[in-house]
Amino acid sequence: MAPYPSVFKDETKLDISYVPYKLPHRDRELRLLMEFFGFLLRVPDKMTQRIIITGDVGTGKTVLSQRFGANVIREANRQGINLRYIHVNCREYRGSLFLIVHHVVSIFHPNFPRRGYSAEELLNILLQILDDQKTHIILTLDEFESLVERENSEAVYKLTRLQEIRLNKPQRISLICILRNLKVIEKLDASTRSTLQSNIIHLKRYLKQQLVDILNNRVLVAFKHLTVPEDTVSLTAELAFSENGNARFGIELLWRAGKYADAENSGMVTPECVRKAASSIYAVTRKSDLASLRIHEKMFLLGIARFFEQCEKAYASLTETEQAYAVVCEEFDVQPHSHTQLWKYLRTLSALGIVKTEVSGTGSRGRSTIISLPRVSAYELEKELSLLLQKEKP
Ligand SMILES: Nc1ncnc2c1ncn2[C@@H]1O[C@H](COP(=O)(O)OP(=O)(O)OP(=O)(O)O)[C@@H](O)[C@H]1O
Ligand SMILES: [Mg+2]
Repeated sequence: MAPYPSVFKDETKLDISYVPYKLPHRDRELRLLMEFFGFLLRVPDKMTQRIIITGDVGTGKTVLSQRFGANVIREANRQGINLRYIHVNCREYRGSLFLIVHHVVSIFHPNFPRRGYSAEELLNILLQILDDQKTHIILTLDEFESLVERENSEAVYKLTRLQEIRLNKPQRISLICILRNLKVIEKLDASTRSTLQSNIIHLKRYLKQQLVDILNNRVLVAFKHLTVPEDTVSLTAELAFSENGNARFGIELLWRAGKYADAENSGMVTPECVRKAASSIYAVTRKSDLASLRIHEKMFLLGIARFFEQCEKAYASLTETEQAYAVVCEEFDVQPHSHTQLWKYLRTLSALGIVKTEVSGTGSRGRSTIISLPRVSAYELEKELSLLLQKEKP
């Protein structure tokens, strides 16, 4: 059999450094940033801005800010305004104001000496350079927490009040501070806090459907046409949703799932590839959990695993799993347990986090339960359960 070509069209689109043109479900925030900084395109000398962006892991703080930066610079260039967007991850500079400002200075003067200046002097040098070049900057301090943790209030205060001490001179530096939780800045003194807290953009955790939209956009640019079915995206979004709506988790999972698809030469990123990728990220289903299940719970789960192994779907109906279980019972030559009992088993399996159950909307056939195997590969599960059941065979 000839091997399938890779499912990927362009893997770099799944890279953490890739900044997409469109950010689904962040249009409002992007517009808000544009409004906050609108003056830079009209009267750049007259004022500066300070913005805080907060939100949990993977809610798009970094990418939102970078997209905004690229957009505003494009606009400034069009209008002939000297504006630069500089994005610094404070953690990479160990939260040191000195190292951060040194980095910014060396963007303008590569090889600027590291010794002989204090952080404050460097800040003044930076302002001088910007004056000389008649340039304005939007400085984004990403992972701002690490700066607050390392430096005292005074350092942060200096950074945020740079302009006040430069009366009658053109304004030069606007700030975007990115942090996960506002609590971190509570340890700063009141005046520093008040200079920071005026404009806060909070990014809410993504909902499942929003993650589906984000992932679908990535699928279009990163994967070849028709290699990623809808179910795969839905399952990935579901997993990212249970990881607190973390889009990064979803994108990484998709990439890993693609790797599994290529390794298996299947030409298609199936839900099973996603489950394999997820179980490679965490081995959530501990073998001891499986071993402790009762024999019919194991057989029911074996039925579910086989169902998913055979059908390349992400979701199963209760009836489908019951039928699969009945086949297992036949094989083991035992009488199947009742529907009510299976319900109980399903609850146990779901409490252990091995299966996930959800009640689907009210269709023509009324509400129904749908079952998925979110984190574990059906193949691995079937292998392990068959082994356990062999030992226990009545
Ligand atoms: N609305 C969106 N549209 C497209 N991609 C998105 C969107 N939101 C987040 N992403 C992608 O999800 C990943 C995580 O986003 P990002 O790095 O911006 O999160 P973050 O909020 O900065 O997380 P952390 O707190 O861990 O730094 C990135 O790959 C980013 O491109
Ligand atoms: Mg970030």
